[in-house]
Amino acid sequence: MDNARLTAMLETLLVPSAGVPLSALAQSASRAGLPRDLAGSVFEQRGILLEALGDEADAARVVDALTRRFVEYVQGKNQFLPFSSDWPTLRSIFHGALVDVRGAIAESASATELDRLLRRALGAHLARLDELVRSLCPEPDRADDVLGAEPTSDEYSAELQLSVLRLELLDLMEPVLDVGCGTGASLVHYLRAYGLEAHGIDLVVPNDPPLAQADWMTYAYGVSRWGTVIAHMSFTNHFVFQDQCSEEQAEKYALTYMRILRSLKPGGAFHYAPAVPFIERHLPGEFLITRRPVAALSGPETTAGEQPSEERWHELVCAVRVHKRR
Ligand SMILES: C[S@@+](CC[C@H](N)C(=O)[O-])C[C@H]1O[C@@H](n2cnc3c(N)ncnc32)[C@H](O)[C@@H]1O
Repeated sequence: MDNARLTAMLETLLVPSAGVPLSALAQSASRAGLPRDLAGSVFEQRGILLEALGDEADAARVVDALTRRFVEYVQGKNQFLPFSSDWPTLRSIFHGALVDVRGAIAESASATELDRLLRRALGAHLARLDELVRSLCPEPDRADDVLGAEPTSDEYSAELQLSVLRLELLDLMEPVLDVGCGTGASLVHYLRAYGLEAHGIDLVVPNDPPLAQADWMTYAYGVSRWGTVIAHMSFTNHFVFQDQCSEEQAEKYALTYMRILRSLKPGGAFHYAPAVPFIERHLPGEFLITRRPVAALSGPETTAGEQPSEERWHELVCAVRVHKRR
């Protein structure tokens, strides 16, 4: 069985795909049956599966793929859960689940027995995922809703991103880094098609240059390395959210924002939307800020001196350019 088929089969089993609280999924997994025929086909292929899951390198690749799929699932349900520092925990949960699945296959003498053991393993696995998601939820009493329908994470066309940020290809200094580029990385591919050296990072892209699977909080941006950094509806969107609900997280975002600015070459720029006025007003004079309201794309530019009040910032959804003077 090739790695892709193995991953697909385990994904059906171990990565949730319904917008139901994980706790409810965990309970129904241990009570109800698995997807039709799953235990049957796992049982049929048990020899190959045991061999594949026993291979450390194969198992590590499967763990990576399942972890990424789960984060994608969560991002699709609620993009603001701060998964950043929890990848090792997530990976170990999926690793544990593979060990349990392997144990269940090895122990079972029939498809019926395997169905029972897999349900038990799946229930325990979903309960562990539920516990992790709850620990990340800023309001524990709302944890059951945390994977509800809002607020989801969308991806946008390259043209729309360039138009919101008012970017012309000729203005972009290379190399370009798209922070939170999205799984489709549409902007990175678009810029490269025009011959620009562009790279992208995202929690849920495969590690495949010019894309890198990385957390924007811990990524090594470097110093004076990027001509242009772009973050459309990504890093600053989360910064705004954390600024409202967690002082500790907001502080980490502020430090990362400054690391991004330090990574600009002289003459380079950081372009993003939405705006983060609460930090922009404190930037040193070496940075020149241009802000344009997104709702009125043809509107006049404002300068850093004309700050929105805290009460009105949400009305002023802006595209911002922070230019590092030469
Ligand atoms: C709303 S999407 C925007 C994607 C793209 N910039 C666009 O405009 O189409 C936000 C992206 O941020 C990514 N993301 C969220 N938290 C992240 C983190 N800590 N590190 C890297 N990427 C993250 C998500 O995986 C998602 O792809």
